[in-house]
Amino acid sequence: GALWEEYSTEVQRRMNDPINMGELTEADAGEDKLVIADFGAESCGDAVRLYWLIDPATDTIKVSKFKSFGCGTAIASSDMMAELCMGKTVDDALKITNIDVEKALRDDPDVPAVPGQKMHCSVMAYDVIKKAASIYKGVDMESFEDEFIIC
Ligand code: FES
Ligand code: FES
Repeated sequence: GALWEEYSTEVQRRMNDPINMGELTEADAGEDKLVIADFGAESCGDAVRLYWLIDPATDTIKVSKFKSFGCGTAIASSDMMAELCMGKTVDDALKITNIDVEKALRDDPDVPAVPGQKMHCSVMAYDVIKKAASIYKGVDMESFEDEFIIC
């Protein structure tokens, strides 16, 4: 049907076989700082957990993994989000928006990766970055500016 065609192959690929799904524990951390952040979308009950290993000397996210009780779009978005975080400083990761995640999931730069009704699912991937950064920095999540655009 038409709706099926509105999902990019990249979304289909990542929801079926996510690259960055998994968890990290203190045993993985060594000298690095482990951050574990949860975020939930109250409207649909979906939840995501983000794991970061951060080099405290440079604030660089060395490893980024996630787990999810989310829909397929949430899984694909979280998988891409985790990938976009890797190698960035925490401050640079904070600049990633849900639109960046969705654009990175497109097959064609001019065609949305998901149907419009599913754009909000990428917002959870954006919110959990803010949650993780707030834990790392020891500040309130609300202290970060909200820059995402829902659709
Ligand atoms: Fe819940 Fe997509 S419907 S995250
Ligand atoms: Fe699922 Fe918004 S309803 S993330």
